[in-house]
Amino acid sequence: MNTLQDITAALVAPGKGILAADESTKSANKRLAAVGIAETSEMRRVYREVFLTTPQIEKHLSGVILYEETFNDHIRSGVPFIDILNQKGILVGIKVDQGVMPFGAKELITDGLVGLPERLKVFKEKGAHFAKWRAVITIEGDELPTSENIHEHAVSLATYAKNCQEAGIVPILEPEVLLQGGHTRARAGEVITEVLQEIFVEIAAQGVDPEALIIKSSMAISGSDSGCKDTPEEVAEDTLSAFHNSIPEEVTGIVFLSGGQTAACVTANLQAIAERKEVMWQLTFSFARALQGEALVYWAGDDEKIAHAQDIFLKRLELVALARDGRYRSEMEEELQALL
Ligand code: G3H
Repeated sequence: MNTLQDITAALVAPGKGILAADESTKSANKRLAAVGIAETSEMRRVYREVFLTTPQIEKHLSGVILYEETFNDHIRSGVPFIDILNQKGILVGIKVDQGVMPFGAKELITDGLVGLPERLKVFKEKGAHFAKWRAVITIEGDELPTSENIHEHAVSLATYAKNCQEAGIVPILEPEVLLQGGHTRARAGEVITEVLQEIFVEIAAQGVDPEALIIKSSMAISGSDSGCKDTPEEVAEDTLSAFHNSIPEEVTGIVFLSGGQTAACVTANLQAIAERKEVMWQLTFSFARALQGEALVYWAGDDEKIAHAQDIFLKRLELVALARDGRYRSEMEEELQALL
């Protein structure tokens, strides 16, 4: 796999998607604490080991995004996580943003551009093929996001993408439009469109190759407080319409975050998106919570439950991979329910 375009195409290949195992220390601790697991580096290591050593994940995963702590760590027997993924033929990715900082009174901007070329060089030497940068965008009525915030995010994402391509790493650009809030699905679609349009203006301005990057997007869905329940067909319609109005044809692939949607819901939404025939990009998943959540609740830190937790994880992965290809049916959820 030589070129950035080859890596990009492999990451979004049919039947496969990406696991986002890159929660920051704070987010990983939050996930562990929610199921009663101690918030220690050792338990974060075990958490990663449970998911990354699950047999047969390579059938459905093209890549895994790691957080730096895991990137430099190893499984209990001493084998580095990177080697485990390499042995399975899964591409290694690395989250390179350094979290969020306040932007004005109510918004956020992403930290991490200082020293990025040097850090990318080290990650590349250690075996990273791709990277991720997350931008957090809040919707609040018509007031947020501000155009200044959208512009700053677009400039940072394009700068990061340029640095990655220069380092021989495929960038995933993740403008996460948050689900939290009382907004409508239409408003979410409008913000996704606006943010992506601005990103592609900056991408062109900075000479980033659109064929050697991946966009990681939220789906256009009603805010979590809105009380609306979107059908998968509505989500597919509005999400793809946002993409058609903002993402150039040359882009190879788009992946989705799950954003707090339930696993069953986001799987059904992905299926509805895959059913649409007019799409010119490869569209697939790059979930964290929706892939790991059910298995994490079952495992809850108990060594004796690891093998079965891995079965649960593999089953969700299989369902999501089927949805990515438009071959999932909601009745298949019963197979997963039977494992819980
Ligand atoms: O940055 C967020 C992750 O890449 C995706 O996480 O699927 O839990 O939203 P999520």
